[in-house]
Amino acid sequence: MDSVEQIELANSLYPVAASQNHAGHTLALEQIVHRFGEMIALKDINLNIRPGEFVSLLGPSGCGKTTLLRIISGFLKPSSGQIRIDGQPVVELSPNQRGVGIVFQNYALFPHMTVWDNVAYGLRAKRVPNGKVNTKVGEMLELVQLGHLAKRYPSELSGGQQQRVAIARALAVEPKLMLLDEPFSALDKNLRLDMQIEIRRLLSKQGVTAILVTHDQEEAMSMSDRIAVMSQGEIHQFDAPSQIYDQPGTLFVSTFVGTCNLLPAKVIGRDAAGCLVQVAGGRLLVAPQPSLQGEELLLAIRPENLRIQTQPSTHRLAGTVELCLPLGSVMVYEVQIALDTKIKVTQPRIPGIPPFEPGDDIYLELVAPQACSLFPAQT
Ligand SMILES: Nc1ncnc2c1ncn2[C@@H]1O[C@H](COP(=O)(O)OP(=O)(O)OP(=O)(O)O)[C@@H](O)[C@H]1O
Ligand SMILES: [Mg+2]
Repeated sequence: MDSVEQIELANSLYPVAASQNHAGHTLALEQIVHRFGEMIALKDINLNIRPGEFVSLLGPSGCGKTTLLRIISGFLKPSSGQIRIDGQPVVELSPNQRGVGIVFQNYALFPHMTVWDNVAYGLRAKRVPNGKVNTKVGEMLELVQLGHLAKRYPSELSGGQQQRVAIARALAVEPKLMLLDEPFSALDKNLRLDMQIEIRRLLSKQGVTAILVTHDQEEAMSMSDRIAVMSQGEIHQFDAPSQIYDQPGTLFVSTFVGTCNLLPAKVIGRDAAGCLVQVAGGRLLVAPQPSLQGEELLLAIRPENLRIQTQPSTHRLAGTVELCLPLGSVMVYEVQIALDTKIKVTQPRIPGIPPFEPGDDIYLELVAPQACSLFPAQT
């Protein structure tokens, strides 16, 4: 962030025109395109976010998450496209006119101000009367459970506490939208989990519409109402976490979220029950895939969606156990199903029942015909 942005950030944290209404606000992104010189950072982003919804932008480094967040906040003007908050176009508005609160990875607290003054800053900038400022700051500090540390300076707080101050400061002015860019990445694992739960609880309680940028799929899965999975400036899928996981819309989503085995596949028959698919090691019956034609396909199967059997059958893949790893509650097997093809299979570990061993000949079946996805091989 450059210094101009720092100042804009400070302004936007304390929007002059902040809403007095705590019920969530809608956000619509319409055909957002952004170019940095020749490079197209965002291709054609369309997104409709509901009031009070918690949405994550999830994707690998460089896919455009921060660029999109900066565009929503008003720090960056898109090359083209429109943004609407509650239906009103805001592309021409500056950050402080949009009523957007932002929390960054580094919290960006004012180091020379106490916790209390940090949280009060935006209200004072709006010339809210002193009595009201005191009530609001008190409420906010209670909300983030930091009332007892009000007189401390940021340098006297832990990372998690600083982050809670940053959140209280952003929420104090009642923003229409809360934008969070990787706010947990500086925290250690345990604290991160606590803060994820805490922030989700706080924002739900306030009914604030929120957008979280993250490249951590578990974080996105556990916190979000819906996730927008991004790659190379495009949104591949915008759906509830379970949909993203169970019914990935593209090959990229299936491999970026969770673990997937990818097997070259051919559809060799179809009927109402589904598609008969030939892969190395045998045939599987998968759910109907009306849109897919052609020979060059990839079958994506999550390791936990295969079940190991000891007997052959029509819709099972024959294989040999190569490796077994006990991982607490599950066993992870690597199974060879052809000379050059190994796949991973996870099974619950049941006390008293011995696991399979390397060299065992086994047969793999799908737990359900819907428990896999087919994609064109050239995507
Ligand atoms: N000011 C800029 N000038 C030129 N290119 C930029 C600028 N900001 C970002 N980019 C490029 O735009 C693309 C998207 O960057 P962005 O920061 O949005 O990615 P990101 O998804 O937030 O990644 P990360 O997870 O690493 O933070 C990248 O290729 C990046 O190099
Ligand atoms: Mg980023």
